[in-house]
Amino acid sequence: MSEPQYVGVIGSGTMGAGIAQVAAVAGFPVFLVDTALERAEAGRERIRADLRRLVDKAKLTAEEGEMILSRITPSESLQDLQIASYVIEAVFENFDSKAEILNDLGAVLPDDAVVATNTSSISITRLADCYARPEQVIGMHFFNPVPVMTLIELIRADQTSDDTVKTALAMASRFGKTPIEVRDSPGFVANRLLISMINEAISLLEEKVATREAIDETMKLGAGHPMGPLRLADLIGLDVVLSIAEVLEKDLADDKYQPAELLRELVAAGKLGRKSGEGIYEYQ
Ligand code: 3HC
Repeated sequence: MSEPQYVGVIGSGTMGAGIAQVAAVAGFPVFLVDTALERAEAGRERIRADLRRLVDKAKLTAEEGEMILSRITPSESLQDLQIASYVIEAVFENFDSKAEILNDLGAVLPDDAVVATNTSSISITRLADCYARPEQVIGMHFFNPVPVMTLIELIRADQTSDDTVKTALAMASRFGKTPIEVRDSPGFVANRLLISMINEAISLLEEKVATREAIDETMKLGAGHPMGPLRLADLIGLDVVLSIAEVLEKDLADDKYQPAELLRELVAAGKLGRKSGEGIYEYQ
């Protein structure tokens, strides 16, 4: 399979914008697709702000920043992806939404295109079945903030071909990331560990074992984590944490993954973390 030229990223939220950014930094022309053009443009604006920060820190020149941004074309149409050879789906963690997109992509993408899904917990084998050429589907799980975190969990579906794995490994290294291959199992490795820890931290808060600050400092000072589990939950988004916890509980059929009541309450109240201005902590 020849090296991919055009990259498509579907979903322009935190993860999609971050993925589009690393692809553009790697030199690929990128279509950033969302359901409405304004959303895709807002994703590109977030990338602009991040690049500006790098320019201010003298990690990029202003010209390099402009060049990277110019490689990103916001779009509201999957049809634009008919010239894309590598597409990464990064929409909200919901099987039906992802399934519909994969199904639609089958009629649009070139025959040899590879489709990666950035699902954080849904079975890649189930998702691959929704695409016309399931052997060309693979899981590529990025971490937030995408421009900073160097891991990509690479997950083979039962149907994934060796060629597809080879292409995805090459893309991960072009993105400057380290791929780690893991089996297709709920939550893979990282989220089964991380979400369990975060859920337990929320239970500790609910049981008033310690304050939110004390819980976070405990893991920073005692376990060397760069940020505490409660701040991390706010960074990931409490709605995302909840949906992953629900997948773990259901698909691993084990009560130990049951989401904390406080997590459910915060999400129901619209307190989703940094992105909504309030979660476990308050943000300006
Ligand atoms: N975008 C781009 N760059 C960012 C950034 C962002 N959103 N946030 C921070 N950075 C950069 C900063 O510019 C800085 O770069 P520099 O060292 O080159 O100057 C560097 O990261 C460090 O940032 P700060 O000095 O502002 O702050 P910290 O040192 O506290 O680091 C952090 C911030 C990188 C977020 C760090 O606290 C960290 O690594 N936290 C853990 C994050 C983590 O665990 N992520 C995984 C979440 S799970 C997930 O994504 C999976 C999903 O499926 C749920």
